[in-house]
Amino acid sequence: MAFQSLESLLVLFASMSLLVAALAQDNVSFVYNGFQRDDVQLDGIAFIHSNGLLQLTTTSNQKIGHALYSSPLRFNSSSPEYSHSLSFSTTFVFAMVPQLTTVSGHGIALAFSPFMGFPGAVASQHLGLFSETNNGNFSNHVFAIELDTILSPEFDDINDNHVGIDVNNLKSIESTPAAYYSSKEGINKSLHLISGDPMQLWIEYDGVEKQLNVTLAPLYYPKPEIPLLSTSLDLSSVFMDSMYVGFSSSTGSIASSHYILGWSFNRSGQAQELELSSLPSLPISRQSQWKQNLKIWLPFTIAAALLITIIVTVYMIRRKKFAEVLEDWEQEYGPHRFAYKDLYRATKGFKDKELLGAGGFGMVYRGILPDSKLQIAVKRFSHDSNQGMREFVAEIVSMGRLRHRNLVKLLGYCRRRGELILVYDYMSNGSLDSFLYDSDGRNLSWVQRYRILKGVASGLLYLHEEWEQVVLHRDIKASNVLLDDDMNGRLGDFGLARLYDHGSNLQTTNLVGTVGYLAPELTRTGKADTSTDVFAFGAFMLEVACGRRPIDPLLSVDRVVLVDWVYQCWRRGVILEVRDPRLEHDYVAAEVELVLKLGLLCSHPLPTERPTMRQVMQYLNGDGILPEISPEYCKISAVEQVASSFPSLFGIGRTPLHSYTTASSIDSILIYGR
Ligand SMILES: *[C@@H]1O[C@H](CO)[C@@H](O)[C@H](O)[C@H]1NC(C)=O
Ligand SMILES: *[C@@H]1O[C@H](CO)[C@@H](O)[C@H](O)[C@H]1NC(C)=O
Ligand SMILES: *[C@@H]1O[C@H](CO)[C@@H](O)[C@H](O)[C@H]1NC(C)=O
Ligand SMILES: *[C@@H]1O[C@H](CO)[C@@H](O)[C@H](O)[C@H]1NC(C)=O
Ligand SMILES: *[C@@H]1O[C@H](CO)[C@@H](O)[C@H](O)[C@H]1NC(C)=O
Ligand SMILES: *[C@@H]1O[C@H](CO)[C@@H](O)[C@H](O)[C@H]1NC(C)=O
Repeated sequence: MAFQSLESLLVLFASMSLLVAALAQDNVSFVYNGFQRDDVQLDGIAFIHSNGLLQLTTTSNQKIGHALYSSPLRFNSSSPEYSHSLSFSTTFVFAMVPQLTTVSGHGIALAFSPFMGFPGAVASQHLGLFSETNNGNFSNHVFAIELDTILSPEFDDINDNHVGIDVNNLKSIESTPAAYYSSKEGINKSLHLISGDPMQLWIEYDGVEKQLNVTLAPLYYPKPEIPLLSTSLDLSSVFMDSMYVGFSSSTGSIASSHYILGWSFNRSGQAQELELSSLPSLPISRQSQWKQNLKIWLPFTIAAALLITIIVTVYMIRRKKFAEVLEDWEQEYGPHRFAYKDLYRATKGFKDKELLGAGGFGMVYRGILPDSKLQIAVKRFSHDSNQGMREFVAEIVSMGRLRHRNLVKLLGYCRRRGELILVYDYMSNGSLDSFLYDSDGRNLSWVQRYRILKGVASGLLYLHEEWEQVVLHRDIKASNVLLDDDMNGRLGDFGLARLYDHGSNLQTTNLVGTVGYLAPELTRTGKADTSTDVFAFGAFMLEVACGRRPIDPLLSVDRVVLVDWVYQCWRRGVILEVRDPRLEHDYVAAEVELVLKLGLLCSHPLPTERPTMRQVMQYLNGDGILPEISPEYCKISAVEQVASSFPSLFGIGRTPLHSYTTASSIDSILIYGR
């Protein structure tokens, strides 16, 4: 063929010299963080996804996939640099996503071949590298590192999860189970090739040292210091002057999707590390989709579970905190029942700051109902008994229906385990005894005292006679009389003594009341009636007029018992001397005398001699003539009788009491107020 022109000759010459130059500097190196169409020559069923993922095989059976670097590696066996030029370093990231989770076929190999392809190669256990006829023939000039996932006995495979070095033969010259060395833990950790998770393989060959290293690790794990396989190998007899390098993969009757995510190769030095973060991602399989979803949803699920746990816990704590005892029979008392939660809020959690008083009956707190803003007084009693509760609650509720301007209104109740709570109208001026005894300068004028006495008397009359049933108070005393905004006396705690009748731990008779106010017959019979209330009211009248407690052990012997002292003064005709000195000259003598005499009369040791509350009211209103007190009154004073019934309380020979004491037959001594 003659050359048409010099020009074309020159062009040909130029291109030939370029080719020579290219051959001379054949230091092939490349990095593929994901593949492009022209990067590799594909064969078989191999293809490249749009995201750059190289897929060698699909889950089709008995198939081969090849992907070889387009240009061959050149070697010049006559060159003095030959041994050195045999060296190479390569690394790639692969993934085997099996059709079935337990088995997968057959594997991936990185292989060198003198041809662009593997002539006559078959699928299955031959990995697309060899055939039955040429396997083991040294004229193959094929060198491969296999990632084998099927145990093929004919090739002496060690297991179905190994890495092997193959020279012309699928019978590996060396192989080992897939694993990597963890320098942190100092152990070899095995890897499951067909886990579907991407892994990285490094292959390094030193042509001078004739040493081959193969190292495996999970993706993102730094290259282990100790290679998985390290063997001496002379590739000079294997490599031809021109060698292609790339991947071969095959499926058998068991199939697997074999992927290459990235590949770096270098003949003249260390292969550049792959940019793991920019590698293409694997298609989401149904299984891994589930995993993916799990990954996304797990934190939410955990968070949700945590939240629910917290809510439930808070709810349980609140439930416990605000737990009430509510029985079916209480339905009818609905309007009288308070929610513990509301009472808790009203009293700011029963804070000490809201405490109005404490005593044998329990604690009294001030509160403001959250909704109505109504001021209330909340009494908490510890009360373990459930027995008789029904009757008692019925009584409480019926007492809630008591309406009188001289009674503290009972608004309702609440029950908790071991606890009963009663809710009353709040009395802004507190209890009467604080006015009588507190030394903070507060004082009551005679007019106020007389009005309070009349008020309490009318309240008690209402309880005794004017309501549909007789209600006994059983614990009348100054500390149970509360003062409202207008300084009206209001009787509180009525009927409460009944609480003790319902107590479960009562061994003796239910004697309730306060020493000094207890009628003598009460200590003998334990039976309370209206006349025992009248007796207590008598002691209360004397208390208000004299400004001292019925029994004051700190005073001189003749004055310890108030009623005795008043009686003695009356006998001596100087009854007004007993009046409260704090009244100074501001009093109405006739009224004081009336109150004192009436007090004595009510304190009569014989119940039959005491007036009724209706009569008391009449006397106080000036509507009746007070009967004269007979000189036989009190041969033994009432209180002395009480004392004889409670020797332990009073001590022998009238040792002074240590405090102002209230007594009941049970050890809890009733003190309400300060
Ligand atoms: C090819 O690589 C070898 C070894 O690294 C080096 O000695 C040689 O100079 C390189 N050739 C060119 C043309 O870069
Ligand atoms: C191979 O190397 C020898 C010795 O350096 C050289 O003479 C010869 O031209 C080289 N062959 C090729 C094809 O480059
Ligand atoms: C090895 O392969 C060569 C070339 O294909 C062939 O001529 C030779 O017979 C084979 N040897 C064996 C032992 O099969
Ligand atoms: C880990 O494996 C390597 C190569 O297989 C071996 O040389 C080494 O002894 C093993 N190390 C341990 C701690 O098992
Ligand atoms: C192979 O690994 C050994 C041990 O880590 C190391 O000493 C040697 O340099 C490595 N050789 C190559 C070619 O990377
Ligand atoms: C190949 O190795 C040489 C020498 O270490 C280095 O300069 C070059 O960047 C590497 N190329 C690739 C693509 O890794």
